[in-house]
Amino acid sequence: MDISHFPAILCLMSNLELSTFLLNWYDANGRNLPWRVKGGAHPDPYAVLVSEFMLQQTTVKTVLGYFEKFMHRFPTVESLAAADEEEVYRYWQGLGYYTRARSLHATAKIIVSEFNGRFPDNRTDVLRLKGIGPYTVASFLALAFNRPETVIDGNVIRIICRLYYLTQPFEEIKPLIAEKAAALTSHTRPADYASAIMDLGATVCTPKNPQCLLCPWQTFCQSKGLPELENIPARISTEKKGKHGSVCLVRNHEDGIFIRKRTEKGLLSGLYEFPWTDSGIIFPKLNPQNTGQSVSHIFTHIKLTLDIYTLNAENIPLDGKFVPTSGLENYPFSTLMKKVWKKNCR
Ligand code: ADE
Repeated sequence: MDISHFPAILCLMSNLELSTFLLNWYDANGRNLPWRVKGGAHPDPYAVLVSEFMLQQTTVKTVLGYFEKFMHRFPTVESLAAADEEEVYRYWQGLGYYTRARSLHATAKIIVSEFNGRFPDNRTDVLRLKGIGPYTVASFLALAFNRPETVIDGNVIRIICRLYYLTQPFEEIKPLIAEKAAALTSHTRPADYASAIMDLGATVCTPKNPQCLLCPWQTFCQSKGLPELENIPARISTEKKGKHGSVCLVRNHEDGIFIRKRTEKGLLSGLYEFPWTDSGIIFPKLNPQNTGQSVSHIFTHIKLTLDIYTLNAENIPLDGKFVPTSGLENYPFSTLMKKVWKKNCR
């Protein structure tokens, strides 16, 4: 019997058991990488730091060669702090994103000058370094000091969304994902756990062709075997992302401008607006003039772009009214409509 879709199984399984399954899998299958050691913290926090800077936006495969040469030339934080910036850049050449090299170099100098060469082992102090965001802090503290920090990157988001069948666009459920990821984090083997979940995402729970039969969580995963598996996590759909419509500024012969009040339920209800549509040209039969200008606004799901049209007319086929342009300030408008007005009505 295939029990993999029984949510009850997941509920019965404690977070501790889940993390134990993952750790057992890691012991047998985890990657051996020079900036981590299996079984606890890496003895050299500097190696972890260098690797974390290199791994920002670059794959493990690419980083491996660079890491080795870099560590050979700058084996300690002191040697890096004392190095000439140009030389640091030379060892970074090909990795791209040179701000990372600059930040790493600055960080080495801070560690030497402000921390006497000792690596900070807590959040507050690590955040005083340069170029370190929430992901890098967590990863660094877990791998270098075996702290129970929760790493959350694209891999982890994918794994958590699949494990719990979270199908909303992940941008909208980040706090829930963070909460579930934190609940799974091992407090007894945090360094190994951080590496394990990274490896699971990189080698098994991949975006395409996930290898569910190799997954230590396959029995509990609520997405295993589903046709939509590869589409989890969901993203804000590109169709919604890129809606393109038009808005029309209609003036009558008294220089009044046409507005209407939104009655539809939702975010913008009660606000005033110029007539607009989220697809195509508005009032095509009335032959409005394209001004060549447009405005864009990002709503929760949608990036809406409206081309601005103008039209001279005494009547249009909509409920609404003409108001003097000098009195427009008296009406509450949405941000999008304010943008339209700012752009075109001055
Ligand atoms: N990506 C970012 N940090 C990493 C790490 N320490 N190991 C593997 N992949 C990573």
